[in-house]
Amino acid sequence: MAHTTPEVRREAERLRREIEHHNHCYYVLDKPEISDAAYDRLFDRLAELERQHPELVTPDSPTQRVGAQPVEAFGTVRHSLPMLSLDKATSQAELAEWWKRTSDGLGGEPFEAVAEPKLDGLAVELVYEDGRLVLGATRGDGETGEDVTQNLRTIRSIPLQLASAPARLEARGEVYIEKQRFAELNRRLEEAGEEPFANPRNAAAGSLRQLDPRITASRPLQIFLYGLGVVEGAACETYDGELQLLDALGFRVVRPRRLCPSIGETAAFWREMNEGRERMPFEMDGVVLKVNRLDQQERLGVRSRSPRYSVAYKFAPRQATTVVRDIEVQVGRTGALTPVARLEPVRVGGVEISNATLHNQDEIDRKDIRIGDTVVVQRAGDVIPEVVSVVTEKRTGREKKFTMPSACPVCGAKAERPEGEVVARCINFACPAQVKGRVEHFACRGAMDVEGLGTKLVDQLVEKGLVRSPADLYFLTHEQLAGLERMAEKSAQNLLDALEASKSRPLARCIFALGIRHVGEHVADVLAQEFGSIEALVEADEERLASTFEIGPTLAAAIRQFFANPENLAAIERLRHGGVQFPPCRRAVPGPLPFAGKTFVFTGALQHSTREEAEALVKERGGRAAGSVSKKTDFVVAGEAAGSKLDKARQLGVKVITENEFRAMLGGGAP
Ligand code: IVH
Repeated sequence: MAHTTPEVRREAERLRREIEHHNHCYYVLDKPEISDAAYDRLFDRLAELERQHPELVTPDSPTQRVGAQPVEAFGTVRHSLPMLSLDKATSQAELAEWWKRTSDGLGGEPFEAVAEPKLDGLAVELVYEDGRLVLGATRGDGETGEDVTQNLRTIRSIPLQLASAPARLEARGEVYIEKQRFAELNRRLEEAGEEPFANPRNAAAGSLRQLDPRITASRPLQIFLYGLGVVEGAACETYDGELQLLDALGFRVVRPRRLCPSIGETAAFWREMNEGRERMPFEMDGVVLKVNRLDQQERLGVRSRSPRYSVAYKFAPRQATTVVRDIEVQVGRTGALTPVARLEPVRVGGVEISNATLHNQDEIDRKDIRIGDTVVVQRAGDVIPEVVSVVTEKRTGREKKFTMPSACPVCGAKAERPEGEVVARCINFACPAQVKGRVEHFACRGAMDVEGLGTKLVDQLVEKGLVRSPADLYFLTHEQLAGLERMAEKSAQNLLDALEASKSRPLARCIFALGIRHVGEHVADVLAQEFGSIEALVEADEERLASTFEIGPTLAAAIRQFFANPENLAAIERLRHGGVQFPPCRRAVPGPLPFAGKTFVFTGALQHSTREEAEALVKERGGRAAGSVSKKTDFVVAGEAAGSKLDKARQLGVKVITENEFRAMLGGGAP
């Protein structure tokens, strides 16, 4: 063992402080000051010193964040102040009741409330003595929890040593896993043949309560602090002041938060969070309101286990349980057969649902969903409701297994499932379900936008044999239309007018309307800009297509395949014949395109404009605005409170710029 000189000791201490400083910049502030490589050099040097001089290793050394030795069981910890739970409000009326109760409790005195997200993780307490993390515990039953100190030490955003600190500090917060990290974790577990977690909360709890801290260290745990227990040596007057203290001490403090002087502001904050829920990097199930002044909090006091000064105003739950009445198969415009569960109607997240997609046979098998099963259904954002899992305890033995048919349930043609693919497809191009799907797609909003041509009408037109392909729409006569069910003279004329108006839709929409596989609105736009006319696009070979910015080999092949099919060429000819103009496309903004070939991703809150406006600025300059970060991203513009996209950018080494730097680029010059 090498001799430990005072210089070596000092170097180790300096490295420790420096590394923790960079941990803070990276994990708490989301603003790294040095490159990953430079960080690794510091870390490796410290690890090397500690290896040569084992007596230098301290429990709060950053090298110890990789996880200590496993334990047999967790010790129990008594919280010096109980960790309370929260009363719920589930409607505007209940929020108003809380506001009134609180006001009455304060004898009518005005008060302010701090509003912040209610995170879906698990509550913990961190105890610091003279600035050093000495204990970390779960909430447990509120009185006593488990000692998970070794595991909490592995979370990089938890400071092990505070710079300037009160004699004793109990900090409280929520340990959680960001949604994207959760998905990655589950993928990793599945690849390793392990059981994935049902949701981010379970993943966070399961990861924190590992007897082997090295496993915890490998999990992407994150923390937000939202309160204090006993504090000696510091005083705050408000909850907001507590959070500011925590922030100044180097903790990651819950955000976004807002000081609300009236119930109106709290309701507005709730609405904003509810609407922005999907875009948030973490799961939240509501908004927490806390009376800001601590003296007022104290006067309001605690009732049984929950404080009167606080309330959790919850979002509508997006999961519910119901029964699968039947499983039916739908056929889409590409012929894809999709199994759909017909459900006992149930309210989920404020909307009644009676169908849920089951995706494909593999999904049904994986989740073992049977007709008659009681299931958990979920609605996330605007997507189609889906079945999450089966409540197997409710099985009676009368449930029926389901297997996808080998023939199309609509036309009876063979349904083929190519080797290696998960979906089976009806092979009959003339299958009425496919025809209906193609016509409906052709007429939809982002495509030719034929007003008044909805599902019911399309069904009739196809079933009566009046329409076999989208082009047939342009040959319909007033007489034919007026003869349809629920079709008055007037509405027949309206539809003809709408069809007439659709003939001059811009080229991009026409391309999208054709329904080429993998060609969505954005790609259609790219193709229109690049090729300028339908003729040029039809002529383009695969190589030319694939050399277009944003068009990969799969897409190029799909496009080529579409135009190589004589039936499709005949369809385009017939559309032209019917009057569709496919107008040549000129570039939207003339002049130089400084951002051509560049992809931008915006994350966090911008100060100068909305995200949509910023994205429009990019597009006007020939660039592309994407929703997620990948290796192809050129710039990530990080606003306030940027989250997982920023992490991703760093992981991939994508250039991160501030909003001001972005603004500067707009002025002119190439990026
Ligand atoms: S404060 C005084 N703030 O909700 C109240 N809790 O039902 C103590 N939670 O056990 C908690 N986000 O796990 C508070 N911003 C937030 C929260 C939050 C999530 C959880 C926490 C607590 C439970 C109470």
